[in-house]
Amino acid sequence: MLRKALKHILNEDELKRLYSAIDIVGEIAIIKISNELLDKKQIIGNAILNNVKHIRSVYLQTSAVKGVYRIRELECIAGIDNPITIYKEHGCRFLLDVKRVYFSPRLSTERARLASLANEGDVIVNMFAGIGTFSIIIAKKKTCKIYSIDINPDAHRYAIENVRLNKVEDRVIPILADAHDAVRVLGSIADRVIMPLPEYSKEFIDDAILLLKEHGTIHYFTHIHANNREDAINTCYREIDNIMTRDYKISGIRVVRDVGPRLYQLVADINV
Ligand SMILES: C[S@@+](CC[C@H](N)C(=O)[O-])C[C@H]1O[C@@H](n2cnc3c(N)ncnc32)[C@H](O)[C@@H]1O
Repeated sequence: MLRKALKHILNEDELKRLYSAIDIVGEIAIIKISNELLDKKQIIGNAILNNVKHIRSVYLQTSAVKGVYRIRELECIAGIDNPITIYKEHGCRFLLDVKRVYFSPRLSTERARLASLANEGDVIVNMFAGIGTFSIIIAKKKTCKIYSIDINPDAHRYAIENVRLNKVEDRVIPILADAHDAVRVLGSIADRVIMPLPEYSKEFIDDAILLLKEHGTIHYFTHIHANNREDAINTCYREIDNIMTRDYKISGIRVVRDVGPRLYQLVADINV
């Protein structure tokens, strides 16, 4: 339907790029479009609004994800300007404000993967938990205790709300703090540490190591510039070797997604 509505506005190549640049978050569509198409943003927005099921607001992303809170600027180009919605994934519901917190539906597979890797009874620390997505999805599947740290007060507020919405109050503990500081209070309690802050996680690797009991696993997210996925994986092995200060073994590295031209997001499972 969307293709039909836009076939006189966009050429085949532009249409393909638009499709890969739409994120659906609950009743909201978030799109990125190239500068050449900016004068057609209203037509594109309305076409999405009228042809994609359940969408009531279309936002154009007008900046990169930026700052400590990893949020992006969004401009409403069609529908109502209400950035609060409920997103459903893996049987969980997440209330969020797309303008005030980081969120990506593109990490869905990774969230399910970590939920299946967690062991019953694990103590987990999610150092950069946002609105609680990884933590809550794991807690729904496994009886783990998950400390969920985030520095953004809005993300923390939604994390508390989402823990309640998904009835995992006994398993997930949201903490509003800088991970550097929280780690010092929590101490060496974790079987597993999740580090979903790919741009900066290497700066926090010593904190993650400190959180682990004698043995444990770190899920280390990173961004790597490389010519292809294979090179990105090889570079990731070297990056980890440069930063690790304890003996470790990598049980796997996978490319989570392409985040730009020759820029990849990867996750490494590091056993310490
Ligand atoms: C890329 S987002 C990931 C959020 C969440 N895990 C998800 O996948 O939706 C990174 C998060 O780290 C938080 N953050 C950045 N620096 C931090 C710090 N020093 N301590 C704790 N949280 C931090 C940001 O506020 C943001 O919510």
